[in-house]
Amino acid sequence: MTHPASAPTQDWQPARYAEQASFVPVLARDLVSWLRPRAGERVLDLGCGTGVLTAAIAAAGATVVGVDASPAMVEAARAAGIDAHVAHAETLLFNDEFDAVFSNAMLHWTRDIDAVLHGVHRALRRDGRFVAELGGKGNIAAIVGAARTVLDAHGVTVPAAPWYFPSLDEMSDALRRAGFHVEQIVLFGRPTPLPGGIVDWLATFGGPLLQRLTPERRAAIAHAIEARLAPTHRGADGVWVADYVRLRFIARRV
Ligand code: BEZ
Repeated sequence: MTHPASAPTQDWQPARYAEQASFVPVLARDLVSWLRPRAGERVLDLGCGTGVLTAAIAAAGATVVGVDASPAMVEAARAAGIDAHVAHAETLLFNDEFDAVFSNAMLHWTRDIDAVLHGVHRALRRDGRFVAELGGKGNIAAIVGAARTVLDAHGVTVPAAPWYFPSLDEMSDALRRAGFHVEQIVLFGRPTPLPGGIVDWLATFGGPLLQRLTPERRAAIAHAIEARLAPTHRGADGVWVADYVRLRFIARRV
């Protein structure tokens, strides 16, 4: 999932990821059934992270190559037996060589969706499919809203769009611009229980919001954001639930 573009906005650490983000591949496991990998196919996993879903695709008999922008995550994937390589989604160099491209929770890190989609299109053979999930319009809106309020109060400017969370129309248009036929596309809410609190979530995923702050300021601001969200995001059982919205699609290279 970890695939920021040329200027990384998140420092990915496999150990932290295993502790705080193992739900990312677990909750998207059924995306592999959208892909329907078959024995003998060649599949590219774009933003493979530590390779959990890459391994699930390989288990179906496909030959899978994983790429990720984070050298640390690629090393972790390789240690798990994945054929993984460091590559940036916006500058893919594959040509006409995959039956399918798969991607979970990476596309929202991209700054130039058109560059990514053109690279995926080039990587696919004719009629090849692109099956992906990313954060969709409204994803983590309450978390970003609370962060904006707290950061504003501290005089810190937040980027207008820290991540790419498209609507159905925006994603469909981008896919068509790159030469895909959109076969299926859905947007759905998926409230997501977190293994820790919002402070942990921000340390794992919140780079675009907090990365420019000193560690001391970052800690103080993260705690203030968490306090603001406690009434709405922490259940009576103490479990924090994030307001995730997912966008999934199957698109075909024409
Ligand atoms: C997501 O998977 O939707 C996501 C996670 C962290 C930051 C932004 C989006």
